Parts: sequence; structure tokens; C-alpha cells
Amino acid sequence: MGTVTKPAYPIRTERLLLRPFTHADHAALHSWQSLPEVVRYLYGEAKTPEETTESLALKTAVTWPAKEGEHLSLAVEHDGRVIGETVLKWLNEEHRQGEIGYIFHPDHYGRGYATEASRVMLRLGFENLGLHRIVASCDASNGASWRVMERLGMRREAHFRHAEVFKGAWGEEFVYAILEDEWRASR
Ligand SMILES: CC(C)(COP(=O)(O)OP(=O)(O)OC[C@H]1O[C@@H](n2cnc3c(N)ncnc32)[C@H](O)[C@@H]1OP(=O)(O)O)[C@@H](O)C(=O)NCCC(=O)NCCS
Repeated sequence: MGTVTKPAYPIRTERLLLRPFTHADHAALHSWQSLPEVVRYLYGEAKTPEETTESLALKTAVTWPAKEGEHLSLAVEHDGRVIGETVLKWLNEEHRQGEIGYIFHPDHYGRGYATEASRVMLRLGFENLGLHRIVASCDASNGASWRVMERLGMRREAHFRHAEVFKGAWGEEFVYAILEDEWRASR
């Protein structure tokens, strides 16, 4: 098994700062969770302020995944403003599997911030959580999302056709993955 080491926060990248959500982040989180265009390819609908309160409580409760099944969701700041979130889920302890995800406010698309923040999540997954393989998945029509996966060096492993009904229509899902040795070789 890999070592499991909680990182020190905040985590700084060239342009961003990543840290656990706090209760003071409600307005920022709601600013994107309430937008239909942001949730178009996500499970669930645009959130009410009360629903954002519930989702923020889940995010603030986990500052590091303590057991499989837990999600780590970090707030991403740019110039002191929270512009999005980046997620690492510990899928399976025995098989050292994880998953990443990302959701940003549309005002901040097109600058590489999701890719920059997700690189941190891959590092946390492989180095701090000792994972062997990290996956990401999205609707095949969500090109902005799978292009992030490709920039991260992830490989398209699957195109699941009609494996579920997504928002009233048959879903088309892409699954991407990267192995620890592929990630180390790409750095
Ligand atoms: C998915 C999502 C985070 C992608 O956002 P994004 O801004 O396109 O992604 P990045 O931050 O990596 O930026 C990449 C874009 O910025 C451009 N860019 C500009 N400067 C860049 C830089 N320094 N580094 C990398 N890319 C840069 C890239 O060319 C790319 O544009 P392109 O896709 O048109 O070629 C965003 O669309 C989103 O939040 N969607 C709603 C939620 C969602 O669907 N999440 C995924 C669920 S599976």
C-alpha cells in the first residue's frame, strides 16, 4: 500500500491556491452551482441557496479522505477569489483507485485553471494517497471536460453508449484514466 499523508494547506500552484472549503464560501459556491449551464453535464439540477448550504456542509466536513468512498473537494482561489472546485474521490482502498473532477465558474473558463488545479489532485492522489490508478469521466458531449483530461495526460479508456439515462436521454459517457507510472513518466 502507498503512504497516506494529509497535505499541508493551502497548496499553491503558479497561479492558484487550493484549500478546503469553509462556511464563508457559500456565495462563491452558489455562484456556479446555481447556473443551469454549469450543471448541464452534472448529475442533479441547479441548486437553490438551501441546497448549496447542504452541499457546502458536505465539502467542509472532509479536509482529507479518511476512508474509501470519501470525496475531497478543494476550493480553488485566483487573486483571492474562489473561482471553482476540484475533487479527488478515494474509490477503492484495496485496489488503490481514485477519481478526479472539477467545476469552475464560467467567468474563469479558457485560461487553464481547471487543468492547473487538477494536476494538484493527481499529485495528491498518487503521492499522498498512494493510488495506483485515477479515473475521470464525463458526458461525451462535454468537450471542455474531456479536453482537461487529455491535457492531464489521461487516456480515453471507454466510451459507454446508452449505459444509463442521463437527464431524460440515453447517456454517452467517456471514461479516462492514468496510472501512477504513466503520471510519473509524464512529469
Ligand atoms: C470542465 C471545465 C472545468 C473546463 O474548463 P476550461 O476552462 O475549459 O478548462 P481549463 O481551465 O483547463 O482551460 C482550458 C482552456 O483554456 C485554454 N488555455 C488558455 N491558457 C491556458 C493555459 N495556461 N493552460 C492550459 N490551457 C489554457 C485552453 O486552450 C483551453 O481551451 P480549449 O478547451 O478551448 O482548447 C468547465 O467547462 C466547467 O466547469 N464546466 C461545468 C462543470 C463540468 O461540466 N465539469 C466537468 C464534469 S465531468
